[in-house]
Amino acid sequence: MKIGIPKEIKNHEYRVGLTPGCVRELVLQGHEVMVETQAGAGVDFSDEYYQSMGAAIVDTAEEIFARSELIIKVKEPQPNECKMLHEGQTLFTYLHLAPDAEQTRLLVESGCTAIAYETITDRHGRLPLLSPMSEVAGRMSVQAGAHCLEKAQGGRGVLLGGVPGVRPANVLVIGGGVVGSNAIRMAVGMEAQVTVLDKSIQRLRELDDFFGSRLNTIYSTRDNLEHYLGQADLVIGAVLVPGAAAPQLIARQALKTMRKGSVIVDVAIDQGGCCETSRATTHDEPTFVEEGVVHYCVANMPGAVARTSTIALNNVTLPYTMRLASLGPKEALLNDGHFMAGLNVHKGQVTCEAVCDALGYDFVAPAKALMS
Ligand SMILES: NC(=O)c1ccc[n+]([C@@H]2O[C@H](COP(=O)([O-])OP(=O)(O)OC[C@H]3O[C@@H](n4cnc5c(N)ncnc54)[C@H](O)[C@@H]3O)[C@@H](O)[C@H]2O)c1
Repeated sequence: MKIGIPKEIKNHEYRVGLTPGCVRELVLQGHEVMVETQAGAGVDFSDEYYQSMGAAIVDTAEEIFARSELIIKVKEPQPNECKMLHEGQTLFTYLHLAPDAEQTRLLVESGCTAIAYETITDRHGRLPLLSPMSEVAGRMSVQAGAHCLEKAQGGRGVLLGGVPGVRPANVLVIGGGVVGSNAIRMAVGMEAQVTVLDKSIQRLRELDDFFGSRLNTIYSTRDNLEHYLGQADLVIGAVLVPGAAAPQLIARQALKTMRKGSVIVDVAIDQGGCCETSRATTHDEPTFVEEGVVHYCVANMPGAVARTSTIALNNVTLPYTMRLASLGPKEALLNDGHFMAGLNVHKGQVTCEAVCDALGYDFVAPAKALMS
C-alpha cells in the first residue's frame, strides 16, 4: 500500500505520524512510504534518517495527498488538508469531530475513510490510543507542578521532596486513572507526601496494592476533598467521567481554603477542568493566579515533549497501521469490532454515534457504511 506522512501544520505541533522505526516495519512488509520533507524535523527525525529506513522524501503535502492510499497524521486535518482528501483514501489520526462541525463537513464532502485514534476501544472498554498521551500528561503534571511551586513562578517556594530536616510537599491527586497513577508515580519518586482521591474503590485497591505505604488512598467525597485541599501544596486534577465534561469538584469557595502560592495542575482541562476557576491555557503562557492559587491548565500538555509523545503514540498505533496497510481498511475494520469503533466517516456517511448526536448527522452503522 502507498502510505503518506504529511508534515503537521497546526500551530506549535511538532509530532509526526510515523517514526523512522515504524517506517522500517512497513517497508519490510512491502509497503511504500512517502514522508513530506522536514516532517520529523521538530522531533529530530531527519529526512536522511527516514530515507535510511526506506522512505521516499517528497517535497509537498499536495504530492503526499495526491499519491497516498493511507495518510497517517497526529492532529486533525486542517481545512486545506481536508480539501486534498478524496474517495478511496484512508485517513488515520486524532480527529475529535464532535466539537468540530467544519472539519466533519469537509471530511464528509471529501468521501474519504476517516478513522479516529481516540474512538478505538479495547476489550476492557478503554481507549488504548489515548492512554499514551495520558501517561505523558500524568508524568509531566508533577514536573510542571514542581516548577510552579518555585517562588519565581508565583508558588509558595516549596521543594517537592523537602530536604533532610524539612518536611516534603503534600501532593493531592484527584482521580487515580491513567493520568493520576502516572502523576502519583512521579510524585512518590520525588519523595513528596502523596494522597489520591478516587470514586472507584477498585481503583483505590489497585493503587494501594502497587504503592503500599508510600501512598494515602482516600475515597472521593466533598468532605474528604475539602479536608485534603486545605493541606495541599500541589493538586493534580485527573478525573474523567467517560463521555461527559469533567465534574467541577473544586468550587471557588473551596479554593479560598487553600494556602497562598499552592498550585493546581488541572490536567482534565481538555474536558472543561475539575476546578471552577480553571480555563484552558497554552504552553506560551501556561499559568494564571486565582484566589492566590497558581493554575496550570494547558490543554495539550504532551505537545511540550513532542519527541517522547511521538514515540509513545507510534508504539500503540503501529499494530493498527500494519493491519490497515496489509488488509486494506475494509477488511481490517470488519475483522475487529474495537478497531471498527474508530471509524468516524466513510464515503460521506458519519459512522460515530457521538458525532451524529453532537452535530445532527444521520447515524450509519460502521459495518453498513463499509459494505455500501
Ligand atoms: N491536558 C492534557 O494535555 C491531557 C492529556 C491527556 C489526558 N487529559 C485528560 O486527563 C483526564 C484524565 O484522563 P485519564 O486517561 O487518566 O482517565 P481515566 O479514565 O484513566 O481516569 C479517570 C479517573 O477519574 C476517576 N473519577 C471519576 N470521577 C471522580 C470523582 N468525582 N472524584 C475522584 N475521582 C473520580 C475515575 O474513577 C478514574 O479512575 C481526562 O479528562 C483526559 O482527557 C488531558
